[in-house]
Amino acid sequence: MRIPGLIDPHVHMREPGATHKEDWASGTAAALAGGFTQVLAMPNTDPPVVDGESLALAAQLAEHGARCDFGLYLGAGADNVSQTAALAERCAGLKLYLDQTYGPLRLDEMTLWFEHFKAWPKNRPLVAHAEGRSLAAAILVSELVDRPLHLAHVAAREEILLVRAAKERSLKVTCEVTPHHLFLTADDLPGGWGEVRPRLGTQVDVDALWQNLEVIDCFATDHAPHTAAEKASANPPPGFPGLETALPLLLTAVGEGRLTLEDVITRMADNVRRIFGVPAQPETWVEFDLDAEHTLSAQGMQGKAGWTPFEGWQVRGAVRQVVLRGQTVYQDGRVLAQPGYGQRIKL
Ligand code: DOR
Ligand code: ZN
Repeated sequence: MRIPGLIDPHVHMREPGATHKEDWASGTAAALAGGFTQVLAMPNTDPPVVDGESLALAAQLAEHGARCDFGLYLGAGADNVSQTAALAERCAGLKLYLDQTYGPLRLDEMTLWFEHFKAWPKNRPLVAHAEGRSLAAAILVSELVDRPLHLAHVAAREEILLVRAAKERSLKVTCEVTPHHLFLTADDLPGGWGEVRPRLGTQVDVDALWQNLEVIDCFATDHAPHTAAEKASANPPPGFPGLETALPLLLTAVGEGRLTLEDVITRMADNVRRIFGVPAQPETWVEFDLDAEHTLSAQGMQGKAGWTPFEGWQVRGAVRQVVLRGQTVYQDGRVLAQPGYGQRIKL
């Protein structure tokens, strides 16, 4: 079966700064193996992407290494409110970290949220990492300044119910949910292996996400690779690799009748294109086998993390071939696109 190239609006490529976890060449190889032909990369690199200079560095590295097409987010910082608007045309969106996560970008001061929400052009995506009450506050701020807001990785029952209520009032809110929050609870992974932000929830949270599928606009992986050694350490960083497991997990759910293939394509291509203004790619598609049963394993994956929270899971549905702009870039386990084949998405 053939589907459009998928778009992941939320990945962490780790370059510059932590290329032992991932770099553009390995992360976009993982993307192609997972059926993604466009990715939007988060700014919590080292240095973080917060101004013209760091954006230019990130763009240069991405242009050099990427095997699929990419966009770059700008991070909202304490000192860059006056600079963001001028950079908006070159960015996939503005990312605001309103809660604790990996990296230095975090906005505690709510008046700063207001300033960033006001300064960023209304027609460009503004994405917030906002959990629990921060999510409620972020929705209020977007309403007060009258601008659209995209909520990253909605994970908890109380959060998806708030999104539903906001949408019922026609507020300009969209959201994404990750496969790990749809398929895992906090009991599934021991110790540091289960560390992720937002945290994994309970079965009640997982059930609430599935019951509210209609208010979930996008599935986003939040591909956040850390090495197995780091996850097993005394101070495990939060985050899971996700690019190579998302589609097989969701196709398995399709096979089980939990959602339709159309639900998947809507949330991994059409809605992402619309919300983020991502242009279509000519001659681009993913060929997959809906009946191929296999076992997920980090062995043979393209990303550098070297582990997956879904190790040993039996799934049905495998990517066979990916064609990007007329070229076969992935075929039966082999990534054929070279670093540099990926283009910066014109946003
Ligand atoms: O678990 C997470 N890891 N959540 C985030 O928000 C950031 C990410 C990372 O960059 O590792
Ligand atoms: Zn993230």
